[in-house]
Amino acid sequence: MHDDEWDSLNSQIMTCTRCRLSESRTNAVPGEGPVPCPIMMIGEAPGEKEDQQGRPFVGRAGTVLNRFLEETGLPRDEVFITSIVKCRPPKNRDPKEDEIHSCSGHLDRQIAHIKPRVIVPMGRFAAGVIFSRFGIGGGKISEVHGKLFRGAFDGDEVMIFPVYHPAVVTHNPPLRSELAGDFARLKEMLSRINR
Ligand code: URA
Repeated sequence: MHDDEWDSLNSQIMTCTRCRLSESRTNAVPGEGPVPCPIMMIGEAPGEKEDQQGRPFVGRAGTVLNRFLEETGLPRDEVFITSIVKCRPPKNRDPKEDEIHSCSGHLDRQIAHIKPRVIVPMGRFAAGVIFSRFGIGGGKISEVHGKLFRGAFDGDEVMIFPVYHPAVVTHNPPLRSELAGDFARLKEMLSRINR
């Protein structure tokens, strides 16, 4: 059940004009999933399809993500899925520092409502932003993926578990097995914390 504050956060995100990305977007993409939710998966930014539909991971990366979630036995509707910035950057360029900063209040408020036990940044970009948000000294995605880090949010422990971005499979097919391994470890870790 979503409370009024959550609904109001979503409308704030959908009508946000804090940065220039609001000028070129069709729809902001707040994210979707249960609230609260033990697992929060965070990508980089909406792409073209996400911008058109206002929903996260509905394009090519989404197809890959859905397949991995299914193979891992994690129903998509049991995880909360969002991105670091909620509006599509023109031509899918990387979000800029000030855009990430403008959007960080939305992400923090989402985390406060969702209260995840595990945050799963997907890809180099999201992992970098989440590591810096939680004051964790990071490293390259090739070094940190599939490993568990610990942070704190509002005094509660939160685990950070970076994985490769699902789109890696289309850009770099050999990394498919690395991504599969990340999801398998994620599943294993979730079953341990649910025990
Ligand atoms: N990539 C992301 O990081 N987020 C989306 O919503 C879609 C693709």
